[in-house]
Amino acid sequence: MKNIAVLTSGGDSPGMNAAIRAIVRKAIYHDFNIYGIERGYKGLIEGNLVKLNRASVSGIIQQGGTFLKSARCEEFEKKSGQKKALEVLKALDIHAVIAIGGDGTFKGVKALDRLGIKTIGIPGTIDNDLGYTDYTIGFDTAITTVMEAVSKLRDTSSSHDRVFIVEVMGRNCGDIALFSGLASGAESLIVPEVGFNIDEIVDDIKRSKIIGKRHNIILLAEGISNPYDVQKEIEKKAGVSTRLAVIGHLQRGGSPTAFDRLLATRMGAKAIDLLIDKKSGVAVGIKGNEIIDVDIDYAVSKRDKLNMELYELAKILAR
Ligand code: F6P
Repeated sequence: MKNIAVLTSGGDSPGMNAAIRAIVRKAIYHDFNIYGIERGYKGLIEGNLVKLNRASVSGIIQQGGTFLKSARCEEFEKKSGQKKALEVLKALDIHAVIAIGGDGTFKGVKALDRLGIKTIGIPGTIDNDLGYTDYTIGFDTAITTVMEAVSKLRDTSSSHDRVFIVEVMGRNCGDIALFSGLASGAESLIVPEVGFNIDEIVDDIKRSKIIGKRHNIILLAEGISNPYDVQKEIEKKAGVSTRLAVIGHLQRGGSPTAFDRLLATRMGAKAIDLLIDKKSGVAVGIKGNEIIDVDIDYAVSKRDKLNMELYELAKILAR
C-alpha cells in the first residue's frame, strides 16, 4: 500500500484544513504518496484527484472551509457510482482513502471499505451529532461563533429591553444550542431532544422582567419550529419587543479555534497510524482526551445524546 487519498465531504467545517495538513505531512513522512480528491465523493467519481506534497498544505492550518472543496453526492449512494469510484482508484493504484465529514460521509466510508479499499473516517461537522465521539472537528469553532454573536446581540437586548431569538444550526442535534447557550449565558434553550412549551418560555420572560433583567436571549435550534412564528407568538404573549437573528452559515465559517486545530491535527495523524496498522472501516474519535477508533458501523449507528445534566444546569443558571 503506497498510495493514499484524502477527501472532505458534506458540509464544510472549520478545522478540515488542519486535518488535511496533518494527513498529508504524516503520510509523506511515512513514505506514502498522497492524493487530494476534490469535491468529496463527487470528485472521486469524476476522477478529480491531485497529487499533494508538503507545500500543498502550507499556510492552511488557520483557514476555515476546506481547500479540497466539498460536496454532497447522491450518485455515490448508488452501486453504479461506487463502481465508477473504484475504477478511478484502481487506475491510480490507490489502496486507501481517508474521508473527513459527517454521518453521510461515513456511509461512504462503509461502502468503500466493502469494496476492498482501506478506508478511515474522520468526524468533520459543526453539528457534533456523532455519539461515538465527544467532539467533532468544527464544533468548537461554531459554538465560539454563536457565543460571540450572542454577546453582541445582548448589547441591543439590554439597551432596548428586547427579547432576542437566535436560531442556530445543528440539524437534529441540540449540541450547538446547548454548549453555546451555556457559554454565553442564554436565558432559554430550545433543542430538538427536549422540545418546548411556549407558555413556559413566556413565563420565564415575565419573571425575568419582574426581577429587573433587561436582556433575554433564547437560543432556538434549527428545524424545531418556524422561528418567525416563535418570534410573533412570544411578542404577543409576553408583550415585549422581540427580534429574530438567524446566523446560519456564519457558524460554518471562520478560522478554527485552537481546540479544533489540535483535534483535527491529532485525528489526521491517527488516521495515518491506523492505515500503517492495516486497519480499515473505522472512524477516528476522541473520548476524554484520548484519540480512539471505532468500527464504522458503530460510528454511523450511535446517535449523539443530549447531555441532560448540562441542559438542567443551563436552566438553573439562567433563572
Ligand atoms: O451539517 C452541517 C449543517 O450546517 C447543518 O447544521 C445544517 O442543517 C446543514 O448543514 C445545512 O446544509 P446546507 O449547507 O447544505 O444548506
